Amino acid sequence: MDSSLMTDSIQRARKLVSGLKAKLGRVPTACVVTFGCQMNARDSEKLTGILIQAGFLIVEEESADFVIYNTCTVRDNANQRVYGRLGYVGGLKKKNPHMKIALCGCMMQEPTVIEKIKKTYRFVDLVFGTHNLYKFPEYLVSCLSQDGQIIDIWDKPDEIEENLPTVRKYPFKSGVNIMFGCNNFCTYCIVPYVRGRERSREPKEIIKECERLVSEGVTEVMLLGQNVNSYGRGLENPISFPELLKEVEKIEGIKRIRFMTSHPKDLSDELIETIKNSDKICRHIHLPLQSGSSKILKAMNRCYDKERYLEVAEKIRREIPDVSITTDIIVGFPGETPEDVDETIDVIRRVEYDNAFTFIYSKRTGTPAASMENQVPEEESHKQFDRVLAEVQKYAKKQSSRFEGRVMEALVEEVNENDSSLVTGRLSNNIIVHFPGSADMVGKYVNVKLNECKGFYYLGEAVCE
Ligand code: SAH
Ligand code: SF4
Ligand code: F3S
Repeated sequence: MDSSLMTDSIQRARKLVSGLKAKLGRVPTACVVTFGCQMNARDSEKLTGILIQAGFLIVEEESADFVIYNTCTVRDNANQRVYGRLGYVGGLKKKNPHMKIALCGCMMQEPTVIEKIKKTYRFVDLVFGTHNLYKFPEYLVSCLSQDGQIIDIWDKPDEIEENLPTVRKYPFKSGVNIMFGCNNFCTYCIVPYVRGRERSREPKEIIKECERLVSEGVTEVMLLGQNVNSYGRGLENPISFPELLKEVEKIEGIKRIRFMTSHPKDLSDELIETIKNSDKICRHIHLPLQSGSSKILKAMNRCYDKERYLEVAEKIRREIPDVSITTDIIVGFPGETPEDVDETIDVIRRVEYDNAFTFIYSKRTGTPAASMENQVPEEESHKQFDRVLAEVQKYAKKQSSRFEGRVMEALVEEVNENDSSLVTGRLSNNIIVHFPGSADMVGKYVNVKLNECKGFYYLGEAVCE
């Protein structure tokens, strides 16, 4: 989009917000509520940036004058949470009719959801999807200047908008989209349907954004994509993900580079080498397993089997011993037997994950798995879920305690929420450490002695160099 058009919309939104300010006798407030993954969190930073430019004061409370829910639909419970919040905020709007309520994000790309909003949630003022987020300034103008429900959903993107204002949650770290969408069509997953086909950003745009972030005080970037290992394939001048990493590494001022997510089928030796030889790339790889059973992996269309996965994971452990490996596991995929779950548990025992997110399979309308026979009864899935979780927790405890007594560098992220004499930092391997400190340490890198492992985090103390 022409960025002058966007600026023009923001100017018009500013006028409307300033009119509202005069009417209310105070600065109008806005609240952005995010569900889902880092991509959505990054999108919310863009929404927040636009709202601030329009003159809103950002607050945490959903009693704000403008409330926007950035939704997720990866599992049904994400959808249910949104409907729950809508019930609550609808009640608030009855008392404050000037309130505006908006919905955006992945869930809005589903036609059944839109039907439901039109029928049951008439009080929602604005609805848009994942492909037209950059139009938010224009929608904001319409929404603030007229009554009635505005709904605009596109079934595919038109272009990558590079110039949206953003506001970061943390001044010192930021997500950076390197690609959008997904082409993998894992049979259980709705993401390709709601986020569209895979599109990589031009490396020069990514580098430019990283340099700008550094000039604003960022030292840690997280490169985001549904499958970063296939980055660059569709570009006019193709470039691999490790090559991009090496470019980002050259940027002076960046101290830490993270990335999410690595699909095991595309993880190359070049990537392992690049991480191994880098001082900046963090010692953490999120490598979603989904299932340890080759039969289930095939039905999931994951394009790797148990052996290939183990080969990759073992190679990472061998080449980069300090690395944390985390994963995602789905239990209860159609046709999964207790023997298949045994295979998953076998992989957990062999890889010894540092942490794992375990999910019960959720049927997503329109995906191939939703119409597969042999759907697993809920009760059975819960039983198997408990077995997997117990195993995951056992290894996660064992793995995180392996650093006890070591001195490691932490980036201080915040003053501890429960005890203000402590600060909370994150290690390169993504482990959290709490240690005595003060607010002026936030955003700084501190060497910390990891005194005591408390399961999934450490208690420690800063050490002088
Ligand atoms: N692109 C990432 C995953 C994004 S979704 C990847 O391929 O690794 C995050 C996680 O949600 C997935 O790894 C998967 O474990 C889980 N998930 C996705 N669809 C699901 C479904 N229908 N039911 C349960 N879990 C699901
Ligand atoms: Fe979903 Fe698979 Fe794409 Fe990940 S790689 S977003 S699980 S389809
Ligand atoms: Fe959810 Fe969309 Fe992310 S469905 S997991 S918010 S890409």
